[in-house]
Amino acid sequence: MGLLIKNAMIVNADKIWDKPHDILCEEGKITKIASGIATGGHETIDASGKKVLPGLIDIHTHLRQPGREDKETIETGSRAAVKGGFTSIMCMPNTNPVIDNAMVVEFIIREAKRVGLCNVYPVGAISKGLQDGELTDMAELKASGCLAFSDDGKAVLNSRLFRLAMEYAKMLDVLIIEHCQDPLLSAGGVMNEGVVSTRIGLKGDPGISETVTVARDIEIALYLNARVHLAHMSLKRSCELIRFAKSQGVKVTAEACPHHFVLTDEACGSFDTSTKVNPPLRSKEDVQAIKEAIAEGTIDCIVTDHAPHTKEDKEVGFDTAPFGLIGLETSLGLTVTELVKGGFIDLAQMVDKMSSAPARIAGLASKGVIKQGFDADITIIDPDKEWTVTREGFVSKSKNSPFIGRKLFSQVEYTICAGKVVYKF
Ligand code: DOR
Ligand code: ZN
Repeated sequence: MGLLIKNAMIVNADKIWDKPHDILCEEGKITKIASGIATGGHETIDASGKKVLPGLIDIHTHLRQPGREDKETIETGSRAAVKGGFTSIMCMPNTNPVIDNAMVVEFIIREAKRVGLCNVYPVGAISKGLQDGELTDMAELKASGCLAFSDDGKAVLNSRLFRLAMEYAKMLDVLIIEHCQDPLLSAGGVMNEGVVSTRIGLKGDPGISETVTVARDIEIALYLNARVHLAHMSLKRSCELIRFAKSQGVKVTAEACPHHFVLTDEACGSFDTSTKVNPPLRSKEDVQAIKEAIAEGTIDCIVTDHAPHTKEDKEVGFDTAPFGLIGLETSLGLTVTELVKGGFIDLAQMVDKMSSAPARIAGLASKGVIKQGFDADITIIDPDKEWTVTREGFVSKSKNSPFIGRKLFSQVEYTICAGKVVYKF
Protein backbone atom coordinates (compact mmCIF):
# COMPACT_ATOMS: atom_id res chain seq x y z
CA MET A 1 0.00 0.00 0.00
CA GLY A 2 1.27 3.42 -0.96
CA LEU A 3 0.44 7.06 -0.33
CA LEU A 4 -1.69 8.82 -2.93
CA ILE A 5 -1.78 12.62 -3.07
CA LYS A 6 -4.90 13.66 -4.98
CA ASN A 7 -5.41 16.96 -6.83
CA ALA A 8 -1.84 18.17 -6.41
CA MET A 9 -0.88 21.52 -7.89
CA ILE A 10 2.80 20.73 -8.28
CA VAL A 11 5.45 23.42 -8.04
CA ASN A 12 8.87 22.38 -9.31
CA ALA A 13 11.78 24.76 -9.80
CA ASP A 14 11.37 24.65 -13.58
CA LYS A 15 7.57 24.73 -13.73
CA ILE A 16 4.44 25.65 -11.82
CA TRP A 17 1.93 23.07 -13.06
CA ASP A 18 -1.37 24.61 -14.13
CA LYS A 19 -3.56 21.51 -13.73
CA PRO A 20 -3.95 19.25 -10.71
CA HIS A 21 -2.45 15.77 -10.86
CA ASP A 22 -2.28 12.79 -8.54
CA ILE A 23 1.03 11.61 -7.12
CA LEU A 24 1.54 8.00 -6.09
CA CYS A 25 4.31 7.24 -3.61
CA GLU A 26 5.42 3.66 -3.09
CA GLU A 27 8.37 2.25 -1.17
CA GLY A 28 9.86 5.69 -0.60
CA LYS A 29 9.73 6.76 -4.24
CA ILE A 30 7.39 8.70 -6.49
CA THR A 31 6.14 5.93 -8.76
CA LYS A 32 3.48 7.70 -10.82
CA ILE A 33 2.21 11.20 -11.59
CA ALA A 34 -1.04 11.27 -13.58
CA SER A 35 -4.60 12.48 -13.40
CA GLY A 36 -7.22 10.20 -11.89
CA ILE A 37 -5.02 7.52 -10.32
CA ALA A 38 -7.34 4.93 -8.75
CA THR A 39 -7.47 5.15 -4.97
CA GLY A 40 -6.97 1.39 -4.65
CA GLY A 41 -5.94 0.49 -1.13
CA HIS A 42 -3.69 3.54 -0.81
CA GLU A 43 -3.67 6.03 2.03
CA THR A 44 -5.01 9.21 0.44
CA ILE A 45 -4.41 12.93 0.95
CA ASP A 46 -6.51 15.55 -0.78
CA ALA A 47 -4.28 18.47 -1.72
CA SER A 48 -7.03 20.58 -3.34
CA GLY A 49 -6.35 24.29 -3.00
CA LYS A 50 -2.78 23.74 -1.78
CA LYS A 51 0.64 23.81 -3.44
CA VAL A 52 2.69 20.63 -3.59
CA LEU A 53 6.45 21.15 -3.42
CA PRO A 54 9.48 18.90 -3.37
CA GLY A 55 10.45 18.50 0.30
CA LEU A 56 12.44 21.46 1.58
CA ILE A 57 16.13 20.86 2.21
CA ASP A 58 18.15 22.81 4.77
CA ILE A 59 21.87 22.37 4.29
CA HIS A 60 22.74 24.42 7.39
CA THR A 61 21.23 23.38 10.71
CA HIS A 62 22.66 23.04 14.21
CA LEU A 63 21.32 20.12 16.21
CA ARG A 64 23.03 20.12 19.58
CA GLN A 65 23.34 16.42 20.02
CA PRO A 66 25.77 15.11 21.12
CA GLY A 67 26.69 17.44 23.94
CA ARG A 68 24.00 20.06 24.48
CA GLU A 69 20.80 18.08 24.57
CA ASP A 70 19.29 20.81 26.77
CA LYS A 71 19.28 23.09 23.68
CA GLU A 72 18.14 20.60 21.01
CA THR A 73 18.28 16.92 20.24
CA ILE A 74 18.18 15.05 16.96
CA GLU A 75 14.59 14.19 17.85
CA THR A 76 13.38 17.71 18.73
CA GLY A 77 15.34 19.20 15.82
CA SER A 78 13.79 16.68 13.42
CA ARG A 79 10.35 17.59 14.77
CA ALA A 80 11.05 21.28 14.20
CA ALA A 81 12.33 20.50 10.71
CA VAL A 82 9.24 18.62 9.53
CA LYS A 83 6.95 21.22 11.10
CA GLY A 84 8.82 23.78 9.01
CA GLY A 85 8.36 21.69 5.84
CA PHE A 86 11.89 20.23 5.71
CA THR A 87 12.41 16.62 4.71
CA SER A 88 16.21 16.74 4.76
CA ILE A 89 18.64 18.67 6.91
CA MET A 90 22.42 18.81 7.16
CA CYS A 91 23.68 19.32 10.70
CA MET A 92 26.83 21.22 11.51
CA PRO A 93 29.76 19.66 13.39
CA ASN A 94 30.10 22.10 16.33
CA THR A 95 28.75 19.52 18.74
CA ASN A 96 30.51 18.00 21.74
CA PRO A 97 32.23 15.77 20.78
CA VAL A 98 32.76 17.44 17.42
CA ILE A 99 31.67 15.57 14.28
CA ASP A 100 35.28 14.80 13.38
CA ASN A 101 35.26 11.00 13.47
CA ALA A 102 33.15 8.18 12.08
CA MET A 103 31.71 7.22 15.45
CA VAL A 104 29.91 10.54 15.90
CA VAL A 105 28.65 10.46 12.31
CA GLU A 106 27.31 6.95 12.75
CA PHE A 107 25.66 7.90 16.04
CA ILE A 108 23.81 10.84 14.47
CA ILE A 109 22.65 8.80 11.48
CA ARG A 110 21.50 5.95 13.73
CA GLU A 111 19.60 8.30 16.06
CA ALA A 112 17.99 10.17 13.15
CA LYS A 113 16.82 6.84 11.71
CA ARG A 114 15.38 5.84 15.08
CA VAL A 115 13.50 9.14 15.25
CA GLY A 116 12.37 8.48 11.67
CA LEU A 117 11.01 11.90 10.74
CA CYS A 118 13.41 13.41 8.21
CA ASN A 119 16.76 12.69 6.60
CA VAL A 120 19.67 14.00 8.66
CA TYR A 121 23.06 14.31 7.01
CA PRO A 122 25.95 15.16 9.35
CA VAL A 123 28.48 17.71 8.12
CA GLY A 124 32.00 16.62 9.01
CA ALA A 125 34.51 19.00 10.57
CA ILE A 126 37.35 20.25 8.38
CA SER A 127 39.80 20.42 11.28
CA LYS A 128 40.09 18.00 14.20
CA GLY A 129 38.20 19.40 17.17
CA LEU A 130 37.48 22.53 15.07
CA GLN A 131 40.93 23.63 16.19
CA ASP A 132 42.14 24.89 12.81
CA GLY A 133 45.31 22.80 13.07
CA GLU A 134 45.02 19.32 11.61
CA LEU A 135 42.70 18.01 8.89
CA THR A 136 40.15 15.38 9.79
CA ASP A 137 40.14 12.07 7.93
CA MET A 138 37.75 13.33 5.27
CA ALA A 139 37.74 10.04 3.33
CA GLU A 140 36.71 8.12 6.43
CA LEU A 141 34.05 10.71 7.26
CA LYS A 142 32.70 10.55 3.72
CA ALA A 143 32.55 6.76 3.91
CA SER A 144 30.52 7.01 7.11
CA GLY A 145 28.00 9.42 5.55
CA CYS A 146 29.28 13.03 5.36
CA LEU A 147 28.40 14.84 2.14
CA ALA A 148 29.99 18.09 3.23
CA PHE A 149 32.67 19.52 5.50
CA SER A 150 32.81 22.73 7.48
CA ASP A 151 34.21 24.29 10.64
CA ASP A 152 30.98 26.32 10.83
CA GLY A 153 30.69 28.56 13.83
CA LYS A 154 34.02 29.97 12.75
CA ALA A 155 36.10 30.31 9.60
CA VAL A 156 39.08 28.17 8.79
CA LEU A 157 41.58 30.91 9.51
CA ASN A 158 44.53 28.72 8.56
CA SER A 159 44.64 29.37 4.79
CA ARG A 160 47.01 26.49 4.07
CA LEU A 161 44.73 24.07 5.89
CA PHE A 162 41.79 25.43 3.93
CA ARG A 163 43.67 24.88 0.68
CA LEU A 164 44.39 21.28 1.65
CA ALA A 165 40.77 20.72 2.62
CA MET A 166 39.65 22.04 -0.76
CA GLU A 167 42.08 19.71 -2.53
CA TYR A 168 40.86 16.67 -0.63
CA ALA A 169 37.26 17.72 -1.14
CA LYS A 170 37.84 17.95 -4.88
CA MET A 171 39.33 14.46 -4.93
CA LEU A 172 36.51 13.02 -2.83
CA ASP A 173 33.79 15.04 -4.57
CA VAL A 174 32.38 16.46 -1.35
CA LEU A 175 31.36 19.99 -0.49
CA ILE A 176 33.35 22.49 1.55
CA ILE A 177 31.16 24.99 3.41
CA GLU A 178 32.94 28.03 4.77
CA HIS A 179 31.77 30.18 7.65
CA CYS A 180 33.10 33.52 6.43
CA GLN A 181 34.10 35.58 9.44
CA ASP A 182 37.74 36.28 10.26
CA PRO A 183 37.82 36.21 14.09
CA LEU A 184 40.84 38.52 14.21
CA LEU A 185 38.87 41.19 12.39
CA SER A 186 35.66 40.43 14.30
CA ALA A 187 37.73 41.09 17.42
CA GLY A 188 34.95 40.38 19.88
CA GLY A 189 32.26 42.37 18.07
CA VAL A 190 28.71 41.42 19.03
CA MET A 191 26.76 43.17 16.26
CA ASN A 192 27.34 44.83 12.90
CA GLU A 193 29.89 47.65 13.09
CA GLY A 194 28.18 50.82 11.92
CA VAL A 195 26.09 53.77 12.98
CA VAL A 196 23.68 51.60 14.99
CA SER A 197 26.44 49.91 17.03
CA THR A 198 27.94 53.33 17.73
CA ARG A 199 24.56 54.74 18.76
CA ILE A 200 23.59 51.90 21.10
CA GLY A 201 27.11 51.35 22.42
CA LEU A 202 27.69 47.72 21.48
CA LYS A 203 31.00 46.50 20.09
CA GLY A 204 30.88 46.22 16.31
CA ASP A 205 32.05 43.40 14.05
CA PRO A 206 33.12 45.00 10.76
CA GLY A 207 31.83 43.68 7.41
CA ILE A 208 35.41 43.13 6.29
CA SER A 209 35.63 40.15 8.63
CA GLU A 210 33.20 38.49 6.19
CA THR A 211 34.41 39.91 2.89
CA VAL A 212 38.12 39.17 3.31
CA THR A 213 37.24 35.52 3.92
CA VAL A 214 34.87 35.48 0.94
CA ALA A 215 37.61 36.95 -1.26
CA ARG A 216 40.28 34.56 0.03
CA ASP A 217 38.11 31.51 -0.51
CA ILE A 218 37.15 32.59 -4.00
CA GLU A 219 40.83 32.98 -4.85
CA ILE A 220 41.66 29.51 -3.51
CA ALA A 221 38.72 27.99 -5.40
CA LEU A 222 39.88 29.67 -8.60
CA TYR A 223 43.48 28.57 -8.11
CA LEU A 224 42.52 24.94 -7.47
CA ASN A 225 39.55 24.84 -9.84
CA ALA A 226 37.68 23.45 -6.86
CA ARG A 227 34.21 24.04 -5.43
CA VAL A 228 33.49 26.16 -2.39
CA HIS A 229 30.16 26.96 -0.75
CA LEU A 230 29.94 30.19 1.26
CA ALA A 231 27.66 30.06 4.29
CA HIS A 232 25.15 32.70 5.41
CA MET A 233 26.13 35.67 3.24
CA SER A 234 25.04 38.91 4.84
CA LEU A 235 26.60 41.78 2.92
CA LYS A 236 26.12 43.68 -0.31
CA ARG A 237 29.89 43.56 -0.85
CA SER A 238 29.96 39.76 -0.47
CA CYS A 239 27.30 39.53 -3.19
CA GLU A 240 29.41 41.72 -5.47
CA LEU A 241 32.45 39.49 -4.94
CA ILE A 242 30.45 36.32 -5.60
CA ARG A 243 28.77 37.82 -8.66
CA PHE A 244 32.13 38.70 -10.14
CA ALA A 245 33.64 35.30 -9.26
CA LYS A 246 30.73 33.49 -10.93
CA SER A 247 31.14 35.64 -14.04
CA GLN A 248 34.76 34.42 -14.16
CA GLY A 249 33.72 30.78 -13.91
CA VAL A 250 34.80 30.21 -10.31
CA LYS A 251 32.98 27.21 -8.81
CA VAL A 252 31.45 29.16 -5.95
CA THR A 253 27.95 28.76 -4.51
CA ALA A 254 26.42 30.75 -1.69
CA GLU A 255 23.55 30.70 0.78
CA ALA A 256 21.60 33.29 2.76
CA CYS A 257 19.36 33.03 5.84
CA PRO A 258 15.91 34.58 6.27
CA HIS A 259 17.07 36.70 9.22
CA HIS A 260 19.59 38.38 6.93
CA PHE A 261 16.92 39.37 4.41
CA VAL A 262 14.22 40.29 6.93
CA LEU A 263 15.95 42.09 9.80
CA THR A 264 18.46 44.94 9.95
CA ASP A 265 20.93 45.79 12.72
CA GLU A 266 18.29 48.21 14.05
CA ALA A 267 16.71 45.09 15.61
CA CYS A 268 19.69 44.84 18.01
CA GLY A 269 18.53 48.14 19.50
CA SER A 270 15.93 46.11 21.42
CA PHE A 271 18.84 44.37 23.18
CA ASP A 272 16.89 41.16 22.60
CA THR A 273 19.67 38.57 22.55
CA SER A 274 17.83 36.52 19.93
CA THR A 275 18.98 39.21 17.47
CA LYS A 276 22.61 38.37 18.32
CA VAL A 277 23.78 36.12 15.54
CA ASN A 278 26.87 35.33 13.50
CA PRO A 279 27.31 36.84 11.00
CA PRO A 280 25.45 39.81 12.49
CA LEU A 281 22.30 41.46 11.19
CA ARG A 282 23.38 44.16 8.75
CA SER A 283 22.25 47.48 7.27
CA LYS A 284 19.13 48.18 5.21
CA GLU A 285 21.26 48.42 2.08
CA ASP A 286 22.73 44.98 2.74
CA VAL A 287 19.30 43.46 3.35
CA GLN A 288 18.08 44.84 0.02
CA ALA A 289 21.21 43.52 -1.75
CA ILE A 290 20.73 40.01 -0.32
CA LYS A 291 17.14 39.93 -1.58
CA GLU A 292 18.25 41.03 -5.04
CA ALA A 293 21.13 38.54 -5.05
CA ILE A 294 18.71 35.71 -4.23
CA ALA A 295 16.37 36.80 -7.03
CA GLU A 296 19.12 37.05 -9.65
CA GLY A 297 20.90 33.83 -8.60
CA THR A 298 24.11 35.20 -7.10
CA ILE A 299 22.90 33.58 -3.89
CA ASP A 300 22.00 30.01 -4.80
CA CYS A 301 20.00 28.83 -1.84
CA ILE A 302 18.25 29.71 1.40
CA VAL A 303 19.24 27.99 4.65
CA THR A 304 18.12 28.41 8.25
CA ASP A 305 21.36 28.35 10.30
CA HIS A 306 18.98 27.06 12.99
CA ALA A 307 21.03 27.70 16.15
CA PRO A 308 19.13 26.75 19.30
CA HIS A 309 20.17 28.16 22.68
CA THR A 310 18.47 27.80 26.06
CA LYS A 311 16.65 30.61 27.82
CA GLU A 312 19.31 30.51 30.55
CA ASP A 313 22.11 30.92 28.02
CA LYS A 314 20.34 33.74 26.19
CA GLU A 315 18.94 35.59 29.21
CA VAL A 316 22.17 37.41 29.93
CA GLY A 317 23.62 40.70 28.71
CA PHE A 318 23.96 41.19 24.96
CA ASP A 319 27.76 41.10 25.25
CA THR A 320 27.88 37.67 26.83
CA ALA A 321 24.97 35.85 25.18
CA PRO A 322 25.85 33.13 22.64
CA PHE A 323 25.30 33.87 18.93
CA GLY A 324 22.38 32.29 17.12
CA LEU A 325 18.65 32.07 16.53
CA ILE A 326 16.27 29.27 15.63
CA GLY A 327 15.00 29.09 12.08
CA LEU A 328 13.56 25.73 11.05
CA GLU A 329 9.95 26.62 11.86
CA THR A 330 9.94 30.15 10.42
CA SER A 331 12.12 29.87 7.33
CA LEU A 332 9.38 29.03 4.83
CA GLY A 333 7.00 31.63 6.28
CA LEU A 334 9.62 34.37 6.22
CA THR A 335 10.66 33.47 2.67
CA VAL A 336 7.12 33.43 1.32
CA THR A 337 6.21 36.63 3.16
CA GLU A 338 9.33 38.62 2.36
CA LEU A 339 10.46 37.30 -1.00
CA VAL A 340 7.41 35.76 -2.71
CA LYS A 341 4.71 38.15 -1.48
CA GLY A 342 7.34 40.90 -1.66
CA GLY A 343 7.67 40.30 -5.40
CA PHE A 344 11.34 39.27 -5.48
CA ILE A 345 10.82 35.63 -6.53
CA ASP A 346 7.93 33.37 -7.51
CA LEU A 347 7.05 30.03 -5.93
CA ALA A 348 9.07 28.08 -8.50
CA GLN A 349 12.18 30.12 -7.71
CA MET A 350 11.50 29.56 -4.03
CA VAL A 351 11.41 25.81 -4.65
CA ASP A 352 14.76 26.16 -6.37
CA LYS A 353 16.27 28.10 -3.45
CA MET A 354 14.84 25.85 -0.74
CA SER A 355 14.90 22.42 -2.34
CA SER A 356 16.37 21.93 -5.82
CA ALA A 357 19.51 24.05 -5.39
CA PRO A 358 20.35 22.65 -1.94
CA ALA A 359 19.93 19.12 -3.36
CA ARG A 360 22.23 19.99 -6.26
CA ILE A 361 24.84 21.65 -4.05
CA ALA A 362 24.88 18.82 -1.50
CA GLY A 363 24.83 16.11 -4.16
CA LEU A 364 21.44 14.64 -3.21
CA ALA A 365 20.73 13.40 -6.73
CA SER A 366 17.34 11.80 -6.06
CA LYS A 367 15.86 14.81 -4.26
CA GLY A 368 14.70 18.37 -4.97
CA VAL A 369 12.10 17.67 -7.64
CA ILE A 370 8.68 16.05 -7.85
CA LYS A 371 9.19 13.54 -10.63
CA GLN A 372 8.65 9.86 -11.20
CA GLY A 373 11.58 7.84 -9.84
CA PHE A 374 12.64 10.51 -7.36
CA ASP A 375 12.42 10.22 -3.57
CA ALA A 376 8.92 10.71 -2.20
CA ASP A 377 9.92 13.74 -0.09
CA ILE A 378 7.07 16.22 -0.47
CA THR A 379 5.87 19.35 1.31
CA ILE A 380 2.27 20.51 0.93
CA ILE A 381 1.67 24.16 1.77
CA ASP A 382 -1.00 26.80 1.66
CA PRO A 383 1.07 29.85 0.71
CA ASP A 384 -1.80 32.26 1.35
CA LYS A 385 -2.72 31.09 4.83
CA GLU A 386 -1.51 33.47 7.56
CA TRP A 387 -0.29 32.39 10.98
CA THR A 388 1.37 34.09 13.90
CA VAL A 389 4.70 32.99 15.34
CA THR A 390 4.31 32.26 19.05
CA ARG A 391 6.73 31.04 21.68
CA GLU A 392 4.40 28.16 22.59
CA GLY A 393 4.06 27.16 18.95
CA PHE A 394 7.71 26.16 18.62
CA VAL A 395 8.43 22.45 18.89
CA SER A 396 12.15 23.10 18.91
CA LYS A 397 13.57 22.71 22.42
CA SER A 398 14.83 26.29 22.26
CA LYS A 399 12.73 29.36 21.64
CA ASN A 400 15.37 31.95 20.72
CA SER A 401 13.53 33.57 17.83
CA PRO A 402 13.37 37.28 17.12
CA PHE A 403 10.22 36.63 15.06
CA ILE A 404 7.81 35.86 17.91
CA GLY A 405 4.65 37.89 17.37
CA ARG A 406 5.13 38.18 13.60
CA LYS A 407 2.37 37.32 11.14
CA LEU A 408 3.64 35.14 8.31
CA PHE A 409 2.14 33.75 5.14
CA SER A 410 2.40 30.07 4.25
CA GLN A 411 1.17 27.23 6.36
CA VAL A 412 2.82 23.82 6.11
CA GLU A 413 -0.13 21.42 5.78
CA TYR A 414 1.73 18.12 5.33
CA THR A 415 5.34 17.05 5.30
CA ILE A 416 5.97 13.70 3.66
CA CYS A 417 9.33 11.97 3.92
CA ALA A 418 10.07 8.76 1.98
CA GLY A 419 6.34 8.45 1.23
CA LYS A 420 5.33 8.65 4.88
CA VAL A 421 3.38 11.52 6.48
CA VAL A 422 5.77 12.88 9.14
CA TYR A 423 3.88 16.10 9.90
CA LYS A 424 0.26 17.15 9.52
CA PHE A 425 -1.07 20.57 10.50
O1 DOR B 1 24.93 32.61 15.20
C1 DOR B 1 25.47 31.54 15.00
N1 DOR B 1 25.28 30.50 15.83
N2 DOR B 1 26.27 31.42 13.96
C2 DOR B 1 27.02 30.33 13.78
O2 DOR B 1 27.71 30.27 12.79
C3 DOR B 1 27.04 29.25 14.77
C4 DOR B 1 25.77 29.20 15.50
C5 DOR B 1 25.77 28.31 16.70
O3 DOR B 1 26.27 27.17 16.61
O4 DOR B 1 25.22 28.69 17.71
ZN1 ZN C 1 25.88 27.84 11.38
